[in-house]
Amino acid sequence: MYKKLQVFTKTSNFRQAIKLVECPLVKPQDEEVRVKNIFAGVNATDINITAARYFTDGKLPFDIGLEALGVVDEIGSNVTTFKKGQPVLALTSSGFSEYVYSSPKNLVPLPELKPNYLVTYVNGLTATIGLDKAGHVKAGDKVFVTAAAGGTGQIVVQWAKHRGAYVIAMTSSEKKAEYLKQLGADFIINYKTDNIDQVLTEKFPDGIDVVWETVGGEIYSTLFKHLAIRGRMVVIGSITNYSSEQSHGFGDVPISNFQTKILMRSLSVTGFMLLNYHDCFPEYFGQLISKVHKGEIKAVVDLGEQTSDGKFFGLEQVARAEEYLHGGKNLGKVVVQIQEP
Ligand SMILES: NC(=O)c1ccc[n+]([C@@H]2O[C@H](COP(=O)([O-])OP(=O)(O)OC[C@H]3O[C@@H](n4cnc5c(N)ncnc54)[C@H](OP(=O)(O)O)[C@@H]3O)[C@@H](O)[C@H]2O)c1
Repeated sequence: MYKKLQVFTKTSNFRQAIKLVECPLVKPQDEEVRVKNIFAGVNATDINITAARYFTDGKLPFDIGLEALGVVDEIGSNVTTFKKGQPVLALTSSGFSEYVYSSPKNLVPLPELKPNYLVTYVNGLTATIGLDKAGHVKAGDKVFVTAAAGGTGQIVVQWAKHRGAYVIAMTSSEKKAEYLKQLGADFIINYKTDNIDQVLTEKFPDGIDVVWETVGGEIYSTLFKHLAIRGRMVVIGSITNYSSEQSHGFGDVPISNFQTKILMRSLSVTGFMLLNYHDCFPEYFGQLISKVHKGEIKAVVDLGEQTSDGKFFGLEQVARAEEYLHGGKNLGKVVVQIQEP
């Protein structure tokens, strides 16, 4: 038998939504691989999934967890591309589980068993493909990054620098600001202590070329106001609204005369949803995994070791890890160790 989390109640309160269940550990089917899951990635959007806002048909109970990293444990008789013991990253919807059954096409081979490679999937692909294909970022652009010290933001900062941009990184604490300096951010705004509108008016009167928007609400309206002529706002998320039980998880953004504003200043506001960019995955995975392996990209993971209750270990700790992320306490990507290798 093995254990996994399932959603039994549709709510954005992760702890209330889930239950730990036991399943029989069966052989993988002929075309399947069974992965022993060692590290699972926690994503801000997990609570949109528990609320059945997306990525599920909503029929209860359903599995939860977008990322699993572990070793190939058993191989179906027709699978030739993987071997037992090999480290892999699984693109899944059952990541909060001790074992994951997967088609080989949803497995990415890894050079080593390290949780840091979890950053290459939802976070890394969103950051790199989003900046390139939706933000059209180029050298000399001023790029404003929200939630810059989080799982996705840390890669956005580095990729924008890699493309030759000037990076303005937004975060909430001195400790996170220090990390952002190490990543090469050029200017840091602490939204808890600084007035974003005032700082941008004084320091960047010509406006921002690319806004990486993950927060929603008032911050969205303020950043929209500071877009430069031909500026691009990439709408990635709306974390301030996820915890509410509102059906869609995004608040309304009050911007008057929206059409006139985008027309007269040639602005664009572009939504980006990673799963609509499958065709770009192989190329960007290749680059990200190689750069993380060589140390050319920092992919920091936060396993909660600094918390008073210690490391996130075991499926029982996933809810605590989700609350940690939504409390804005994390630096880098939140990861739960599911079991020993
Ligand atoms: N569209 C897509 O395909 C896609 C894919 C991946 C991620 N995303 C989005 O990207 C964002 C980041 O996701 P992630 O999983 O990488 O999480 P994360 O950045 O590792 O963690 C969330 C961070 O957001 C900030 N935050 C939390 N609550 C907040 C609040 N109420 N107001 C303002 N900031 C808050 C905190 O950073 P500070 O302390 O620095 O404020 C926190 O560390 C989310 O909006 C997520 O939905 C979208």
